[in-house]
Amino acid sequence: MQFVLKPVNHRFKGGEFASQDYFDHQGNLLVGKGQVVTPSLASYFNRQPVNSLYYEWPDAANPITEHPDSSILINYPRISPWLSRIFLEMDLFKPQLMLKAISFIDTLLEHLFVHPGISSDFKLLYTSDSVTYRHSINVAFLSFMIGKEFNYKGEKLRRLVFGALLHDIGKLNLPDKILNKPEALTLEEFKIIQSHPTLGVQRTTGLILPESVISTILQHHERWNGTGYPQGLANHEISPSAQIVAVADVYEALITDRPYHAGLPPYHAIEILLKGSETHFSPEVIETFLHTIQFYPADSLVTLNSGETGIVLHYSYPNLTRPRIRIIMDAGGIPVEREWIVDLLQDNSRYILSVKYNRAG
Ligand SMILES: [Fe+2]
Repeated sequence: MQFVLKPVNHRFKGGEFASQDYFDHQGNLLVGKGQVVTPSLASYFNRQPVNSLYYEWPDAANPITEHPDSSILINYPRISPWLSRIFLEMDLFKPQLMLKAISFIDTLLEHLFVHPGISSDFKLLYTSDSVTYRHSINVAFLSFMIGKEFNYKGEKLRRLVFGALLHDIGKLNLPDKILNKPEALTLEEFKIIQSHPTLGVQRTTGLILPESVISTILQHHERWNGTGYPQGLANHEISPSAQIVAVADVYEALITDRPYHAGLPPYHAIEILLKGSETHFSPEVIETFLHTIQFYPADSLVTLNSGETGIVLHYSYPNLTRPRIRIIMDAGGIPVEREWIVDLLQDNSRYILSVKYNRAG
């Protein structure tokens, strides 16, 4: 996988909201998605190239062959083709735990596809809204990872993942043209989108579902500071499972290509989540989520935007994406005569492009 900066063809107006993250030519974030582009920034952006960041797979059409457990994944056709390639190829999670998650979700899906009250809705999601189906599978996967880190077991874990699989079921009530609209939504369309948690609960009325599953459907867009929807709940008024699914939901949306934005590299998405800790998200859930991720496993090599390769020496919370690195190879891939250390916290011109793992180790 490689990260690519592409110039943006857009005339900025002072006061507009950034529709995506914008970077300078070195990959430094200039303004984050949703932030206001001030008049002075707009005139600066219009004078010089501004970039957006994409990740590209060298050959996205080919199936995953690198992952050591890829042959086992074939046994899970309800999940594996839908699971984000990032989870499989970047080794962000421990392979054994990933397989556990996949098997756990598969068992739940088996149940959902024949559940007397839910199967028709879930089949509809699978056949008519593959975007939401894919999203739900990935949110369930991430919720499992976070739940395990919280030491959820048995029925508690099952209910959490069950809620994650159903969290966007209300989107079945929404028109496709709004759900997949590539342009910015109008205020009215945004209000329609915001109705999906309530519609989801209405769709499941009459079914005997665990309370935590219903609260996940209803509350997964609530925010820690009370600025979310539909009820404006805050802090621990939001159910624990909805707090977890909220983080999984946003992380999945950030890393996935959508009609209205390109997916972000996971390390950048993590930085955005960190910024939302205590405002959008429960700080405890964010911290737990970070613990599920293997940032720099032993023997991994990082490649920088400068082309240099190095070994991570030290990183600390919350600056997980800006560690200290011992440079061992130059931009041409030649071992350096004298190894040296770069501290990404101090050197803003460099950032991590990719992490390579020593799979033989
Ligand atoms: Fe949602």
